[in-house]
Amino acid sequence: MSENKKVIFSGIQPSGNLTIGNYLGALKNWVKLQDEEEYDCYYCVVDLHAITVKQEPAELRRRTLEVLAIYIAAGLDVDKVTLFIQSHVKAHSEAQWLLNCSTYLGELQRMTQFKDKSAKYSNVGAGLLNYPVLMAVDILLYQTDLVPVGQDQKQHLELTRDLAQRFNNTYSDTFKIPEPYIPKEGAKIMDLQDPTKKMSKSAENPNGYIFIMDPPDVIRKKISRAVTDSLGVVKYDVENQPGVANLMTILSTLTGMSFEEIEKKYEGQGYANFKKDVGEAIVAELEPIQNKVKDILSDKKYLEEVYKKGAEKANYVANKTLRKMQKKIGLIPPAR
Ligand code: AMP
Ligand code: TRP
Repeated sequence: MSENKKVIFSGIQPSGNLTIGNYLGALKNWVKLQDEEEYDCYYCVVDLHAITVKQEPAELRRRTLEVLAIYIAAGLDVDKVTLFIQSHVKAHSEAQWLLNCSTYLGELQRMTQFKDKSAKYSNVGAGLLNYPVLMAVDILLYQTDLVPVGQDQKQHLELTRDLAQRFNNTYSDTFKIPEPYIPKEGAKIMDLQDPTKKMSKSAENPNGYIFIMDPPDVIRKKISRAVTDSLGVVKYDVENQPGVANLMTILSTLTGMSFEEIEKKYEGQGYANFKKDVGEAIVAELEPIQNKVKDILSDKKYLEEVYKKGAEKANYVANKTLRKMQKKIGLIPPAR
């Protein structure tokens, strides 16, 4: 079946509404990759990751389905790729324990995402620390070759490779060593109000992010309010004009225009037209997706079929790797 195809795995947490950072840094590339025939793709809604910080149960359920609908609406083809919900494949939780036992505390404490998040919350749960091990098994259970993610996940990918190598060295070859796949452009979309910070679904100021599901007028307004500078020149200069550079990145990844072409187009015009066009480019991309999301969410039965089929395939593959891990570690297989 898919034995000699290269495997791709990635996921997004349903911990908040998805932003155009998630879209441009991750989702848009997943859609590109699915059309390259040589890949067997798994895209997961990582609900077990989301509960590393407190979630309201009803909201978590709503968002989990919405993220799945966004995957499909953005262009992932349910007949070509495997879409599933992480908690439907129990092997992830089991394998995480096994890999946890050969992970060093120091490795986890060094993760920048852990440092950032643990500084933000007062009662830091153990899940927040252990989360990169869960991410590692997500990837390793599928013998993944390539992991398309934004820049912020690079460190977790390096840890995944270290943990896989350590397990292979201790118990003999078990896991494929995965490679990150980080886009050249769009890998780090910045906050619209503070362009030195990553755009995040959990930022305090809603003007800093654009949700994939934000209504068109809200998108236009947020872009018109985006922080720029007083230089008045559309120029790609991250150091001195981070706000403008961020908007240029968004426009470029959406339209395919190069930075030089953008600079030329808006020469001598200040920022008004430029910002207007950025807003329109986002609306043009997202509006059709939003309409599809609404259609898909109104058909719960269809969604159920999608995640049922996805979980069946994912379970089959993940269990195979889990059994290998158990056997190599020295656990006795259950009697039949
Ligand atoms: P998360 O929302 O943390 O589950 O991230 C899901 C995916 O979106 C990961 O591949 C991230 O690297 C990517 N991502 C999140 N925020 C951004 C951003 N501001 N710019 C680019 N990629 C992002
Ligand atoms: N940790 C990732 C994030 O916050 C989400 C994620 C979980 C993931 N498991 C994964 C991404 C496996 C890629 C592969 O963005």
